Amino acid sequence: MSELLAVEGLCTNYGKIRILRDVSLTVGEGECVALLGLNGAGKTTTMRSILGLTPPRAGTVRYAGHTITGWPAYKVARLGVGYVPEGRRMFKDLSTLENLQLAENSRGGDWTIARVFEHLPKLAELRGRKAGRLSGGEQEMLAIGRALVANPRLILVDEPSQGLAPLVVEEVYRILAELKNSRVAILLVEQNALLALKMAERAYVLDSGRVVHDGPAAELAGDRDRIRSLMGMDVAPAN
Ligand SMILES: Nc1ncnc2c1ncn2[C@@H]1O[C@H](COP(=O)(O)OP(=O)(O)OP(=O)(O)O)[C@@H](O)[C@H]1O
Ligand SMILES: [Mg+2]
Repeated sequence: MSELLAVEGLCTNYGKIRILRDVSLTVGEGECVALLGLNGAGKTTTMRSILGLTPPRAGTVRYAGHTITGWPAYKVARLGVGYVPEGRRMFKDLSTLENLQLAENSRGGDWTIARVFEHLPKLAELRGRKAGRLSGGEQEMLAIGRALVANPRLILVDEPSQGLAPLVVEEVYRILAELKNSRVAILLVEQNALLALKMAERAYVLDSGRVVHDGPAAELAGDRDRIRSLMGMDVAPAN
């Protein structure tokens, strides 16, 4: 599988505090890779470092043949890297449709607003509603729709199941599976390890800003003791 994203030796601080320590990972073209770890392990910081939102102190980020380390986020986005942030973050006073229109890119591509509405009919129904009035699940769908209309080749998804009812989680994962089928590469952060491992081909586990495990997702999914020892917790059942 050809490499789309390659992160090497990433070190990132918040002020004087070292958060990421020598984090290396890769995502292949069309591959889904899970990034797991306990609260505070550094998962979101890894994504922010890749995206240029929190530039790293050391290390390199290569994407589709470009060295993008520390590039401003808008330039990274222009290269086709999508982001579904933790907590969703959208323009709360704008409607569903307006949020999508702002994110739509001018390069064009398979994912238009019309196609997003076809795949997420709920969003079509809610096109006129202000994003701030959507439920958590509806906001997650909008966050995914917004990333899609930018026609990404790689999408970084941070805890898409957070705070959602099991049926909504299923719906969100159905969309992610569809993305995967259409060969969009995914870096997926999840608290629910088993859920992410079902979707991913490979997985990395972070602990205190270091990669403490990497390997095939299926292998890790089948080894509950290993998950428990890596993440120091009992594993929630996958939905
Ligand atoms: N803006 C910030 N300023 C200072 N410290 C921060 C900041 N953001 C995160 N941190 C710290 O960095 C560490 C890693 O945080 P990060 O958000 O990357 O973890 P995470 O793995 O995404 O956790 P969670 O599962 O809770 O989302 C934590 O100790 C956190 O308190
Ligand atoms: Mg996080």
